[in-house]
Amino acid sequence: MKFLEDNIERVLLSKEEIADKISVMAQEMGAYYQGREVVLVCILKGSVTFFSDLARELSFPVTYDFMCVSSYGNGAVSGGSVRINKDLSVDITDKHVVIVEDILDTGNTLFALFEQLKSRRPASLKLCCLLDKPERRQKPVEADFVGFCISDEFVVGYGLDYGEQYRQLPYVGVLKRSVYEK
Ligand code: IMP
Ligand code: MG
Repeated sequence: MKFLEDNIERVLLSKEEIADKISVMAQEMGAYYQGREVVLVCILKGSVTFFSDLARELSFPVTYDFMCVSSYGNGAVSGGSVRINKDLSVDITDKHVVIVEDILDTGNTLFALFEQLKSRRPASLKLCCLLDKPERRQKPVEADFVGFCISDEFVVGYGLDYGEQYRQLPYVGVLKRSVYEK
């Protein structure tokens, strides 16, 4: 994918590293849920790749649902509030729910989303994130299942975008600053 790779500073997490980590996360989740059924919620669009790889490693029953929320527009700086562009298609009252996110950054998006979802009274509500940038946090949000803690660099690939591009890269890479500091 030369057309995308020219803009990548370096590979941060290879395809193999991500796959290995997802197996470990799936085991942790399996130990936690003990065979109970879970509604696995994919937060569109960034989590699509992670969600489908994770779901296929899980050893307990799940149903799928999808939500689309936005706080970022097309750029690299957080807006602060959340807009629900597509809501869940099922009632999550009394269900065990796991939100699957690509990356936890300022926490603004997920903080607002969790407030919304908690009011629907799920039996439990947990957060599973592939990536976490703890240094950037502005709201008290922690993931219950985390893949990798990373430093404050803008990353793309494996579902993550910059201006809707780069999602198709099979790894997570650091985007060259020159791309967004024009
Ligand atoms: P938060 O509300 O700041 O936690 O933003 C979370 C959302 O911002 C994620 O779901 C991503 O869509 C986006 N985001 C945050 N950091 C990055 C990054 O490094 N690369 C790509 N998208 C990012
Ligand atoms: Mg995004």
